[in-house]
Amino acid sequence: MMKDFSSYQAVTDQEVKSAIHHAVDIVKSSLPEFTHLFKKDASVDNFYKPESNDSWTTGFWTGQIWLAYENTNDDRYKQAADIQVKDFLRRIKEKQNVDHHDMGFLYSLSCVAAYKLTGNEMGKQAAILAADQLISRYQPVGEFIQAWGALGAADNYRLIIDCLLNLPLLYWASEVTGDDKYAHIAKKHITTSLKNIMRDDHSTYHTFFFNQETGEPLKGVTCQGYRDGSAWSRGQAWGVYGVALSYRYTKNPAYIPIFKDITNFFIEHLPQDLVPYWDFDFTDGSDEPRDSSAAAIAICGMLEMAKYMDKEDSEYYKDAALKMLKSLIDHYSVKDPSKSNGLILHGVYGKRSPYNTCGNSGVDECNTWGDYFYFEALTRLIKDWELYW
Ligand code: GLY
Repeated sequence: MMKDFSSYQAVTDQEVKSAIHHAVDIVKSSLPEFTHLFKKDASVDNFYKPESNDSWTTGFWTGQIWLAYENTNDDRYKQAADIQVKDFLRRIKEKQNVDHHDMGFLYSLSCVAAYKLTGNEMGKQAAILAADQLISRYQPVGEFIQAWGALGAADNYRLIIDCLLNLPLLYWASEVTGDDKYAHIAKKHITTSLKNIMRDDHSTYHTFFFNQETGEPLKGVTCQGYRDGSAWSRGQAWGVYGVALSYRYTKNPAYIPIFKDITNFFIEHLPQDLVPYWDFDFTDGSDEPRDSSAAAIAICGMLEMAKYMDKEDSEYYKDAALKMLKSLIDHYSVKDPSKSNGLILHGVYGKRSPYNTCGNSGVDECNTWGDYFYFEALTRLIKDWELYW
């Protein structure tokens, strides 16, 4: 069943240009504070504080600087991003806080971007080291990349849906090194993920556990969703864009109907303003917060996959994406830098519930990935954008 979007307006070229102008302005005014340091994962009262290159999220800020560079050709952005790329090389060489799966979020948007945009060899070297680090977390028993925790530990023998966004680093590494081992592991991981993480109604689990002796699938469990059986909206969005990205690299036709199933669940459960609450258990009338970042991620996934689908599907998902983006621009984006140094408001990093395992963090705040994906979506509409992924 397709959702009826006929009462919504698609974003216009002029609105996209104006939104890019605001986004670039915020990146520009952030550079003095955030060149040698990074924007922390989520804002406090809509303003980011600085942090060193330590968390899983710092690449989103470097990615925004690269997007500003692409949109302006102004060398000041390249200079700032290059400083950060150098620090990403240091970080992976020193193995500073890289014992987790988020190498793609960190290194695709900073270092692969640097290599693709400017031929930066330091970026290439760092990103290949990050790909090596990522495949070191592959578990042949169960055939997945372990997201978090000590390798092989029973209490963390699981994959998480977010990891689909880390796979493009592996496809890219195979392309540039000519060594198929990275792509091989990426394909194993997505196969195991899709087999286990999708429910019959096409909603998704956040994380899925396996038996570490036999690899047998055990159970789906949430960390950041409302409850184990609900659809955490950002997790569903990771599914939308993650499947699109694996399709881009593998052209596996099986991913097309899977993309449609995951995306249709997302679209059909959207509230009136087309920006989801932080979990799809909540909809219009709830006083729970939205997660604007989930909308931004899903928009990028739909714009990417629309490139490969038949005309009817392509038009449907592109139209949906343009209408969701209009809502983000009109109701969530920051137009006045005195109000926030983020690009979009009203995201949720994690919100505690009686049934999940995360604490409250970045609730109804900006987050750097929401900003990044919003800016990526805008950039996709202004030019034939070559992906950093
Ligand atoms: N990948 C972690 C998150 O989406 O919060």
